[in-house]
Amino acid sequence: MSAMAVKTVCDLQEKKRRGEKITMLTAHDAAFGALVDRAGVDLILVGDSLGMVALGYDSTVPVTMAEMIHHAKAVRRGVQNALLIGDLPFLSYQVDHKAAINNAGRFLKEAGCAAVKMEGGAPIAATVAAVVRTGIPVMGHIGLTPQTAGQLGGFKVQGRDDGSAERLLHDAGALAAAGAFALVLECVPALLAQKISEAVEIPTIGIGAGPHCDGQVLVTHDLLGLFERFVPRFAKQYATLAEQANGALAAFKNEVEGGVFPAAEHSFGPLVEGIASPADK
Ligand code: KIV
Repeated sequence: MSAMAVKTVCDLQEKKRRGEKITMLTAHDAAFGALVDRAGVDLILVGDSLGMVALGYDSTVPVTMAEMIHHAKAVRRGVQNALLIGDLPFLSYQVDHKAAINNAGRFLKEAGCAAVKMEGGAPIAATVAAVVRTGIPVMGHIGLTPQTAGQLGGFKVQGRDDGSAERLLHDAGALAAAGAFALVLECVPALLAQKISEAVEIPTIGIGAGPHCDGQVLVTHDLLGLFERFVPRFAKQYATLAEQANGALAAFKNEVEGGVFPAAEHSFGPLVEGIASPADK
Protein backbone atom coordinates (compact mmCIF):
# COMPACT_ATOMS: atom_id res chain seq x y z
CA MET A 1 0.00 0.00 0.00
CA SER A 2 1.44 3.41 -0.91
CA ALA A 3 1.74 5.88 1.96
CA MET A 4 -0.56 8.88 1.53
CA ALA A 5 0.55 12.32 2.66
CA VAL A 6 -1.21 13.91 5.62
CA LYS A 7 -3.77 16.41 4.34
CA THR A 8 -3.30 20.12 5.02
CA VAL A 9 -5.49 23.21 5.01
CA CYS A 10 -3.71 24.32 1.79
CA ASP A 11 -4.72 21.05 0.05
CA LEU A 12 -8.36 21.98 0.61
CA GLN A 13 -7.99 25.41 -0.89
CA GLU A 14 -6.17 23.84 -3.88
CA LYS A 15 -9.07 21.39 -4.27
CA LYS A 16 -11.55 24.26 -4.39
CA ARG A 17 -9.44 26.04 -7.01
CA ARG A 18 -9.30 22.86 -9.12
CA GLY A 19 -13.05 22.26 -8.71
CA GLU A 20 -12.49 18.93 -6.91
CA LYS A 21 -14.99 17.98 -4.21
CA ILE A 22 -13.83 17.80 -0.58
CA THR A 23 -15.02 14.99 1.71
CA MET A 24 -15.44 15.11 5.48
CA LEU A 25 -16.90 12.60 7.97
CA THR A 26 -17.15 12.43 11.74
CA ALA A 27 -15.38 9.98 14.05
CA HIS A 28 -15.60 9.71 17.82
CA ASP A 29 -13.20 6.86 18.66
CA ALA A 30 -10.08 5.16 17.33
CA ALA A 31 -11.95 2.34 15.54
CA PHE A 32 -14.14 4.74 13.56
CA GLY A 33 -11.20 7.11 13.03
CA ALA A 34 -9.29 4.26 11.36
CA LEU A 35 -12.29 3.14 9.25
CA VAL A 36 -13.09 6.64 8.02
CA ASP A 37 -9.42 7.41 7.36
CA ARG A 38 -9.07 4.21 5.33
CA ALA A 39 -11.94 5.44 3.12
CA GLY A 40 -9.59 8.29 2.12
CA VAL A 41 -11.68 11.30 3.14
CA ASP A 42 -9.91 14.66 3.33
CA LEU A 43 -11.18 15.74 6.76
CA ILE A 44 -12.23 13.93 9.91
CA LEU A 45 -14.27 15.90 12.41
CA VAL A 46 -14.44 14.89 16.04
CA GLY A 47 -17.87 16.52 16.12
CA ASP A 48 -19.83 17.46 19.20
CA SER A 49 -22.46 15.17 17.62
CA LEU A 50 -20.53 12.89 20.03
CA GLY A 51 -23.08 13.98 22.63
CA MET A 52 -26.00 12.47 20.72
CA VAL A 53 -24.54 9.48 18.86
CA ALA A 54 -22.16 8.19 21.56
CA LEU A 55 -22.90 9.77 24.95
CA GLY A 56 -26.69 9.53 24.88
CA TYR A 57 -27.47 13.24 25.45
CA ASP A 58 -30.56 14.78 23.83
CA SER A 59 -28.52 17.55 22.17
CA THR A 60 -24.95 18.77 21.74
CA VAL A 61 -25.35 21.42 24.47
CA PRO A 62 -24.17 19.34 27.48
CA VAL A 63 -20.94 18.17 25.78
CA THR A 64 -17.85 19.31 27.71
CA MET A 65 -14.25 20.08 26.68
CA ALA A 66 -13.09 17.12 28.79
CA GLU A 67 -15.35 14.76 26.81
CA MET A 68 -14.25 16.23 23.48
CA ILE A 69 -10.53 15.97 24.32
CA HIS A 70 -10.91 12.39 25.59
CA HIS A 71 -12.59 11.33 22.32
CA ALA A 72 -10.33 13.43 20.06
CA LYS A 73 -7.26 11.70 21.56
CA ALA A 74 -8.83 8.32 20.76
CA VAL A 75 -9.65 9.33 17.17
CA ARG A 76 -6.08 10.66 16.72
CA ARG A 77 -4.73 7.15 17.47
CA GLY A 78 -6.75 5.74 14.56
CA VAL A 79 -6.09 8.43 11.94
CA GLN A 80 -3.01 8.70 9.73
CA ASN A 81 -3.85 10.73 6.65
CA ALA A 82 -6.92 12.90 7.02
CA LEU A 83 -6.78 16.40 8.52
CA LEU A 84 -8.22 16.03 12.03
CA ILE A 85 -10.53 18.74 13.34
CA GLY A 86 -11.77 19.16 16.92
CA ASP A 87 -15.25 20.66 17.39
CA LEU A 88 -15.34 23.29 20.14
CA PRO A 89 -18.35 22.51 22.36
CA PHE A 90 -20.95 24.99 23.61
CA LEU A 91 -19.52 27.67 25.94
CA SER A 92 -15.90 26.69 25.31
CA TYR A 93 -15.28 29.71 23.00
CA GLN A 94 -18.18 32.15 23.46
CA VAL A 95 -17.27 33.66 26.85
CA ASP A 96 -14.01 35.40 25.93
CA HIS A 97 -11.08 35.18 23.52
CA LYS A 98 -8.73 33.84 26.17
CA ALA A 99 -10.95 30.82 26.84
CA ALA A 100 -11.42 30.31 23.08
CA ILE A 101 -7.65 30.31 22.46
CA ASN A 102 -6.95 28.02 25.43
CA ASN A 103 -9.65 25.51 24.49
CA ALA A 104 -8.77 25.57 20.78
CA GLY A 105 -5.12 25.06 21.76
CA ARG A 106 -6.01 22.02 23.87
CA PHE A 107 -7.26 20.22 20.74
CA LEU A 108 -3.83 20.74 19.14
CA LYS A 109 -1.58 20.24 22.16
CA GLU A 110 -3.41 17.40 23.95
CA ALA A 111 -5.27 15.61 21.17
CA GLY A 112 -3.06 16.14 18.13
CA CYS A 113 -5.78 17.82 16.05
CA ALA A 114 -4.69 20.09 13.20
CA ALA A 115 -7.62 22.51 13.41
CA VAL A 116 -10.80 23.39 15.30
CA LYS A 117 -14.40 24.18 14.32
CA MET A 118 -16.69 26.83 15.84
CA GLU A 119 -20.40 27.46 15.30
CA GLY A 120 -21.59 31.01 14.59
CA GLY A 121 -21.43 33.84 12.06
CA ALA A 122 -20.38 37.49 12.15
CA PRO A 123 -20.86 37.78 15.96
CA ILE A 124 -17.97 35.32 16.52
CA ALA A 125 -15.72 36.64 13.73
CA ALA A 126 -13.49 38.47 16.25
CA THR A 127 -13.07 35.23 18.23
CA VAL A 128 -12.17 33.34 15.05
CA ALA A 129 -9.62 36.05 14.20
CA ALA A 130 -8.08 35.86 17.70
CA VAL A 131 -7.70 32.06 17.49
CA VAL A 132 -6.33 32.22 13.93
CA ARG A 133 -3.80 34.90 15.02
CA THR A 134 -2.55 32.41 17.62
CA GLY A 135 -1.71 30.05 14.74
CA ILE A 136 -4.68 27.69 15.06
CA PRO A 137 -6.62 26.95 11.84
CA VAL A 138 -10.38 27.49 12.33
CA MET A 139 -13.30 26.07 10.37
CA GLY A 140 -16.54 28.08 10.63
CA HIS A 141 -20.05 26.61 10.83
CA ILE A 142 -23.15 28.62 9.84
CA GLY A 143 -26.78 28.00 8.88
CA LEU A 144 -28.34 25.61 11.37
CA THR A 145 -25.98 25.72 14.35
CA PRO A 146 -27.14 22.92 16.70
CA GLN A 147 -25.52 24.43 19.84
CA THR A 148 -27.87 27.44 19.53
CA ALA A 149 -30.80 25.77 17.75
CA GLY A 150 -33.16 27.12 20.43
CA GLN A 151 -32.44 30.68 19.27
CA LEU A 152 -33.07 29.66 15.64
CA GLY A 153 -36.54 28.29 16.41
CA GLY A 154 -35.39 24.65 16.43
CA PHE A 155 -33.70 22.33 13.94
CA LYS A 156 -34.90 24.18 10.84
CA VAL A 157 -33.53 25.08 7.42
CA GLN A 158 -31.95 28.56 7.65
CA GLY A 159 -31.82 31.33 5.03
CA ARG A 160 -35.20 30.70 3.43
CA ASP A 161 -36.26 34.38 3.41
CA ASP A 162 -34.34 37.32 1.91
CA GLY A 163 -33.32 38.78 5.28
CA SER A 164 -31.84 35.60 6.70
CA ALA A 165 -30.23 34.69 3.35
CA GLU A 166 -28.48 38.10 3.36
CA ARG A 167 -27.39 37.51 6.95
CA LEU A 168 -25.86 34.15 6.05
CA LEU A 169 -23.98 35.67 3.10
CA HIS A 170 -22.69 38.36 5.44
CA ASP A 171 -21.71 35.72 8.07
CA ALA A 172 -19.77 33.74 5.47
CA GLY A 173 -17.87 36.85 4.34
CA ALA A 174 -17.11 37.87 7.94
CA LEU A 175 -15.72 34.42 8.82
CA ALA A 176 -13.62 34.28 5.64
CA ALA A 177 -12.26 37.77 6.41
CA ALA A 178 -11.47 36.64 9.97
CA GLY A 179 -9.21 33.92 8.54
CA ALA A 180 -11.38 30.78 8.70
CA PHE A 181 -9.94 28.16 6.31
CA ALA A 182 -13.32 26.58 5.44
CA LEU A 183 -17.00 26.83 6.32
CA VAL A 184 -19.61 24.21 7.16
CA LEU A 185 -23.02 25.20 5.76
CA GLU A 186 -25.74 23.25 7.58
CA CYS A 187 -29.37 23.12 6.40
CA VAL A 188 -29.24 25.95 3.90
CA PRO A 189 -31.25 26.04 0.61
CA ALA A 190 -29.13 24.69 -2.27
CA LEU A 191 -29.10 27.90 -4.33
CA LEU A 192 -28.13 30.05 -1.34
CA ALA A 193 -25.31 27.58 -0.57
CA GLN A 194 -24.17 27.97 -4.19
CA LYS A 195 -24.20 31.77 -3.86
CA ILE A 196 -22.17 31.60 -0.63
CA SER A 197 -19.72 29.10 -2.18
CA GLU A 198 -19.17 31.46 -5.11
CA ALA A 199 -18.89 34.52 -2.88
CA VAL A 200 -16.09 33.25 -0.61
CA GLU A 201 -12.65 31.99 -1.63
CA ILE A 202 -12.50 29.42 1.17
CA PRO A 203 -14.12 26.00 0.66
CA THR A 204 -17.70 25.39 1.82
CA ILE A 205 -18.59 21.97 3.19
CA GLY A 206 -22.32 21.27 3.04
CA ILE A 207 -24.60 19.17 5.22
CA GLY A 208 -28.17 19.54 4.03
CA ALA A 209 -26.97 22.37 1.78
CA GLY A 210 -27.31 20.80 -1.67
CA PRO A 211 -24.79 19.75 -4.31
CA HIS A 212 -23.14 23.09 -5.11
CA CYS A 213 -20.92 23.29 -2.02
CA ASP A 214 -17.20 22.65 -2.44
CA GLY A 215 -17.48 19.52 -0.29
CA GLN A 216 -19.87 17.43 1.77
CA VAL A 217 -19.94 16.18 5.35
CA LEU A 218 -22.17 13.64 7.09
CA VAL A 219 -22.24 12.27 10.60
CA THR A 220 -20.78 8.76 10.11
CA HIS A 221 -23.41 7.18 12.38
CA ASP A 222 -26.15 8.56 10.08
CA LEU A 223 -24.40 7.35 6.92
CA LEU A 224 -23.98 3.84 8.33
CA GLY A 225 -27.49 3.62 9.78
CA LEU A 226 -26.17 3.33 13.32
CA PHE A 227 -28.15 6.11 14.95
CA GLU A 228 -31.76 4.99 15.23
CA ARG A 229 -33.33 7.84 17.25
CA PHE A 230 -33.92 9.86 14.06
CA VAL A 231 -32.52 10.18 10.55
CA PRO A 232 -32.30 13.73 9.20
CA ARG A 233 -33.78 14.13 5.71
CA PHE A 234 -30.42 15.25 4.31
CA ALA A 235 -28.55 12.18 5.56
CA LYS A 236 -28.22 9.38 3.01
CA GLN A 237 -28.00 5.96 4.68
CA TYR A 238 -25.41 3.92 2.78
CA ALA A 239 -25.85 0.98 5.15
CA THR A 240 -28.21 -0.20 7.90
CA LEU A 241 -25.66 -1.39 10.43
CA ALA A 242 -27.89 -1.03 13.51
CA GLU A 243 -30.26 -3.59 11.99
CA GLN A 244 -27.37 -5.97 11.25
CA ALA A 245 -25.98 -5.46 14.74
CA ASN A 246 -29.39 -6.22 16.29
CA GLY A 247 -29.50 -9.50 14.34
CA ALA A 248 -25.96 -10.51 15.33
CA LEU A 249 -26.48 -9.70 19.02
CA ALA A 250 -29.76 -11.63 19.18
CA ALA A 251 -28.09 -14.58 17.40
CA PHE A 252 -25.36 -14.65 20.11
CA LYS A 253 -27.97 -14.71 22.87
CA ASN A 254 -29.97 -17.48 21.17
CA GLU A 255 -26.89 -19.61 20.44
CA VAL A 256 -25.62 -19.39 24.02
CA GLU A 257 -29.05 -20.19 25.41
CA GLY A 258 -29.42 -23.06 22.89
CA GLY A 259 -25.98 -24.55 23.65
CA VAL A 260 -24.72 -23.85 20.09
CA PHE A 261 -21.97 -21.38 21.03
CA PRO A 262 -19.16 -21.92 21.86
CA ALA A 263 -18.48 -24.88 19.53
CA ALA A 264 -15.29 -26.98 19.43
CA GLU A 265 -13.51 -24.44 17.18
CA HIS A 266 -13.99 -21.74 19.81
CA SER A 267 -12.75 -23.96 22.68
CA PHE A 268 -9.41 -25.37 23.81
CA GLY A 269 -8.84 -29.04 24.55
CA PRO A 270 -11.41 -31.84 24.19
CA LEU A 271 -15.03 -30.93 24.89
CA VAL A 272 -15.63 -34.48 26.16
CA GLU A 273 -13.14 -36.37 28.37
CA GLY A 274 -11.02 -38.72 26.23
CA ILE A 275 -12.31 -37.54 22.78
CA ALA A 276 -9.83 -35.24 21.01
CA SER A 277 -11.36 -32.19 19.37
CA PRO A 278 -10.35 -31.87 15.64
CA ALA A 279 -10.26 -28.09 16.06
CA ASP A 280 -7.61 -28.38 18.77
CA LYS A 281 -4.96 -30.23 16.70
O1 KIV B 1 -20.89 17.79 15.40
C1 KIV B 1 -20.91 17.44 14.22
O2 KIV B 1 -20.85 16.25 13.87
C2 KIV B 1 -20.99 18.49 13.20
C3 KIV B 1 -21.26 18.07 11.78
C4 KIV B 1 -22.70 17.82 11.62
C5 KIV B 1 -20.76 19.07 10.81
O3 KIV B 1 -20.87 19.63 13.52
